[in-house]
Amino acid sequence: MERDPLAPDDARLAYASEGEAYRILRSNLTVALSDLERPTVIVTSADAGEGKTATSVNLARSLALAGKRIVLVDLVLRHPDVHHWYGIDNSVGVTDVLLDRRPLEECLQQVDVGLGPSQTQRSIYILPTGLAVPNPAELLGAGRTHQLLVALAREADMVIIDTPPVLLAAETLVIGRTVAGALLVVEARRTPIPAVQRAKDALIRNQTRLLGVVINKWRPQAGGGDYDYGYGSAYGYGPGVGPAQSNGR
Ligand SMILES: Nc1ncnc2c1ncn2[C@@H]1O[C@H](COP(=O)(O)OP(=O)(O)OP(=O)(O)O)[C@@H](O)[C@H]1O
Ligand SMILES: [Mg+2]
Repeated sequence: MERDPLAPDDARLAYASEGEAYRILRSNLTVALSDLERPTVIVTSADAGEGKTATSVNLARSLALAGKRIVLVDLVLRHPDVHHWYGIDNSVGVTDVLLDRRPLEECLQQVDVGLGPSQTQRSIYILPTGLAVPNPAELLGAGRTHQLLVALAREADMVIIDTPPVLLAAETLVIGRTVAGALLVVEARRTPIPAVQRAKDALIRNQTRLLGVVINKWRPQAGGGDYDYGYGSAYGYGPGVGPAQSNGR
């Protein structure tokens, strides 16, 4: 696959240059959400380290390059990471808004993500977590989070929310109840199938619409366990997109 000349240099974003997989994810998600005007979407997984932040960041970028107004929110209050991907400050953010310490507009940061097809500079707004709080689940569980997401949705075509692993933190299900749906990231060949099943069941029991499954860090295998570097992406990495599933909502 050709490298995308518009991708940022940052090594952590290097596989964003394998942009085709994210473009496919972007169009599948857009179709899955076509019935909604300003959807809010959580990105989650069963376990830690499967690629939730990578997927959130790259999906947000891909949507912004296609001309969408995107807000990317980090709700992983225990281990915030989105700000690292763009090297931005995390001293103010979600916790300040929820605790009424600062107005929302003072906490949003605009970040350039590259040139769109018409050579216009595109950007996204990021709402980082802000400083740590002792009780993240309680803070996110209070009704203010929903109000915050509604306020953000007013300003955006889509709000993408990085969240903790669904099986490890109670807050993801609390947030999941109030959004349009969830993308479930699954790390290829690592996450045990029963864990994926449990995460999916938890979301559906929670009445969170499951929009799709992103198979991340997927390396197509050739014979003998070797990797086929010619297929999928230049490095054999990149998310594949599973069929969108829904609980009928
Ligand atoms: N498609 C990919 N190709 C290559 N490396 C990837 C890919 N997705 C994620 N990674 C790498 O895997 C590691 C974990 O990814 P990431 O931080 O996005 O996971 P996470 O699910 O957000 O983790 P956590 O549960 O700790 O928040 C990171 O080092 C990231 O750069
Ligand atoms: Mg993360």
